Amino acid sequence: MRKFAITTVAIAGVALMALSGCSSRGATPSGSGAAAGFKAGSTIGVSLPDKTSENWVLAGQLFTDAITKAGFKADVQYAPATGTAAEQANQVSSMNTKGAKVLIIGAYDGKQLGSQVKTAKDNGATVIAYDRLIENTKNVDYYVAYDNEKVGELQGQALLTGMKERYPAAKSYNIELFSGSATDPNAKVFFDGAMKILQPKIDDKTLKVVSGQTAITQTATPDWKPENAQTRMDTLLAANYSGTELNGVLSPNDTLARAIITSIKAAGKATPVMPVVTGQDSEAASIPLIMTGEQYSTINKDTTKLVAQAVQMVKDLAAGKKPQTNSTAYNNGVKVVPTYLLPPELVTKANAAESYKNNAKLEALTK
Ligand code: BGC
Repeated sequence: MRKFAITTVAIAGVALMALSGCSSRGATPSGSGAAAGFKAGSTIGVSLPDKTSENWVLAGQLFTDAITKAGFKADVQYAPATGTAAEQANQVSSMNTKGAKVLIIGAYDGKQLGSQVKTAKDNGATVIAYDRLIENTKNVDYYVAYDNEKVGELQGQALLTGMKERYPAAKSYNIELFSGSATDPNAKVFFDGAMKILQPKIDDKTLKVVSGQTAITQTATPDWKPENAQTRMDTLLAANYSGTELNGVLSPNDTLARAIITSIKAAGKATPVMPVVTGQDSEAASIPLIMTGEQYSTINKDTTKLVAQAVQMVKDLAAGKKPQTNSTAYNNGVKVVPTYLLPPELVTKANAAESYKNNAKLEALTK
């Protein structure tokens, strides 16, 4: 998948609509998911990848509640914890058989659902990619996600800022890099976003990746599993850091950050200064670590808002309207997928209470 900058045409279009006082509803490129509308009580299929991070667990319940409240029948399924692309493909096929009018899919593997989404389109359904893009097919109508490239940029920036704060006398820093599962298209977008910030600092020798592992194939964490990140961190520390200080680790999410922190502590590298470890997702288990400084940062990507945006698309489609989109930045390899992007927010100890003020559970963890 490649991500392109928002085109001048799209920007001009938005400006024109702003001038004429119109909303951007109906502004999606022609030919994408034109909706004939459908009745209350129709089945809406939601297929989610696995439960390896809290946001996916939360999304399932939120989708069930919001779709039911909107008057439709929710069919929400997960690929099992051992997540396989084949399992998710079977689930999507069964949603097609049940006559789902909309499929909302958080792909386990963004490249493996081509034939299932083709069947959905042949049946007249609308396909919405949720959080992760579905790649290499024309049969995806919409994408709704947080701005994932921005997430990566915020992580890269947080790593630099955090190391400047923690090692004020240092002129250069020793770091290691982690990325997510190779099957998840987001993993590359996060990593590329972070490297946009970090690569120039590697080139000018401000940063040294002591292991030398800077390619995404070397940094990947199979299936986003924390045990895989922990094993890799153990190996990196044992092989490269005897007598060498570690200053920071780029971690793509909170689940992996906690595994990396466990490894750093076990190797005796948490003292005298705890290296800077980034994260993402604002998981409840990571907020106390952010408050003590064990984990330096996370990203606030409120799942409630993302689910609400996807369900708003369902309501618009049911009413025969084109859902609102605000970005043409995502090309899935075959087409530009009309996208609704939400803005992610960087969270450190300094702004945690403020960032979570609309989420009582997370705000309480900042006290
Ligand atoms: C999501 C992240 C999440 C990761 C692992 C990504 O696609 O965007 O929020 O941490 O999957 O579940």
